[in-house]
Amino acid sequence: MSIGQLVAFPMFLNRLFQPIRQLADKFNTLQMGIIAGERVLDLINNEKSEIDDGKIIDQSLKADIEFNNVFFEYQKDLLVLKNINFRLPKGKSLAIVGPTGSGKSSIVSLLNRLYPIKSGEISIGDININEFKLDYLRSKISIVLQDVFLFSGSIKDNISMKNENITLDEIKEATGQLGLGEFINSFPENYDYILNERGNNLSLGQAQLISFIRAIVTNPDILILDEATSSIDPHTESLVQQAIEKLIKNRTSITIAHRLTTVQKADFLMYLENGEIKEFGTIEELLAIPDGYYFKLHQRQFHSNASVN
Ligand SMILES: Nc1ncnc2c1ncn2[C@@H]1O[C@H](COP(=O)(O)OP(=O)(O)OP(=O)(O)O)[C@@H](O)[C@H]1O
Ligand SMILES: [Mg+2]
Repeated sequence: MSIGQLVAFPMFLNRLFQPIRQLADKFNTLQMGIIAGERVLDLINNEKSEIDDGKIIDQSLKADIEFNNVFFEYQKDLLVLKNINFRLPKGKSLAIVGPTGSGKSSIVSLLNRLYPIKSGEISIGDININEFKLDYLRSKISIVLQDVFLFSGSIKDNISMKNENITLDEIKEATGQLGLGEFINSFPENYDYILNERGNNLSLGQAQLISFIRAIVTNPDILILDEATSSIDPHTESLVQQAIEKLIKNRTSITIAHRLTTVQKADFLMYLENGEIKEFGTIEELLAIPDGYYFKLHQRQFHSNASVN
């Protein structure tokens, strides 16, 4: 045997075993994954589902929304909402404004029964919301959250949430309603453009616009919008503003508003502070209250920028 062969032999041997060792390592990782997965499934299966005694599955929610003496707390004896009373007529839009922590997000999360209330009654079309079947109630109420959830997949899948009953035509129709056709066309493969995990190849404003289309493609009876505060570029901002106007037009909607324009376009305004409604009415009514909460807010805003809190 030559010296060269002698040196080469152990080296080749090493090359043979290295991948085998790597393969065994991978197997370990795989097993750890399987066990972790089993634990997650265990947790999901053993978790009690939400209380749902509701039966109604055929009543339209295109109706007045009413809160009657509603009290709510996340933790015992820490009231977050105190004696909330208001009626929002069907097809009208309500904008909620108020300082951070005042309970704005809490009010809207009660509407689709994310949490049970302490006392009082919430009704839609004079039917207590507990009487609706939970799935049905939630299918009729669309919610757009401040931070949009996008997953890796095409724009189309992100809009339809992979619901196969939603056709491309319906998606196009919803896009058209919001005046966002051109926006979609600006992507290389339009609806087939692939988004990265969490939509990180989109700007925040673009992600919001896609979530707007998603919100109306199911043609919900009620729309809830928690406006994002993050600043976006002026062009996208104007698209967002126009889309919001169209979103809330002729639809019962509640918007947690940060934009002055959204507030001005809403039919009714609610000023919330410390979990209490301080003022409720049309913008004209609230502006007519000298030294009122909204009046003061408006004065301050008018002279600074276009955001309300
Ligand atoms: N999941 C929760 N568990 C316990 N307390 C909560 C929870 N969510 C909110 N809170 C509390 O309830 C109160 C109202 O919160 P909420 O999120 O409704 O305020 P917000 O008006 O939406 O504020 P922001 O303008 O910052 O979004 C706050 O004091 C908050 O700490
Ligand atoms: Mg909030």
